[in-house]
Amino acid sequence: MRIIIGKDYDEMSKKAALMVAAQVLLKPASVLGLATGSTPLGLYRELIGMNQRGEVDFAQVTTFNLDEYYPLEPDHPQSYHYFMYENLFNHINIKPERIHLPDGTATDIKAACAAYERMIAEAGGIDLQVLGIGVNGHIGFNEPNPSLPVETHLVDLSEETIQVNSRFFSSVDEVPRQAVTMGMGTILKARRIILLANGRNKAEAIKRTVSGLVTSACPSSFLQTHPDVTLILDQEAAALIG
Ligand code: F6R
Repeated sequence: MRIIIGKDYDEMSKKAALMVAAQVLLKPASVLGLATGSTPLGLYRELIGMNQRGEVDFAQVTTFNLDEYYPLEPDHPQSYHYFMYENLFNHINIKPERIHLPDGTATDIKAACAAYERMIAEAGGIDLQVLGIGVNGHIGFNEPNPSLPVETHLVDLSEETIQVNSRFFSSVDEVPRQAVTMGMGTILKARRIILLANGRNKAEAIKRTVSGLVTSACPSSFLQTHPDVTLILDQEAAALIG
């Protein structure tokens, strides 16, 4: 595992943007796995700037997002569809037909999850997966559990995640109790993974990610088994490691 530490959130975001841009420069038709949440906002802001200055071209890039609340309509302001268009896709030259997110409205959820896995495989697999991390060590919405599904699936959100994410909703009761998420196997199949974390509240989860047992009690610990993972942290998130 490589660890890159920026002095603050902006430096972390710039370093992450350089890694994504390098991936797209080396392989213009890259398949990117993307995350939502507060953490990658700075990364997306940097990528928008680079794209608008002509430094990086997304015309041939394909994207697959990690997760989506369930049930939630794509035009709901708290949906991850909405988030991605607002914070990235509307501002870069990506082709709409190359954008993919899990379906938060599917009635046959098993079929929709299987179709998502198939689309990723047909695109050639994920070249670079961007991850954030929950305070409980979740990645995507793979919550700490005795066992973890391998592929894209419907998951019950933990009470902790519902509380933490309620900051985006007008009340905790509005937070969907479930989500569709890539599985640990889907994530670990990506050729390269970058995980971003900032703030002191992520320090414990980062410590459990890089050292100690690989355990489904801390899903991010499975990243220790992947050959090409880079953590990009600010100093606060790195406070409890080496
Ligand atoms: C979002 C996702 C989640 C978040 C995590 C951290 O697509 O997969 O795992 O990365 O909950 O969220 P923030 O960045 O808001 O702290």
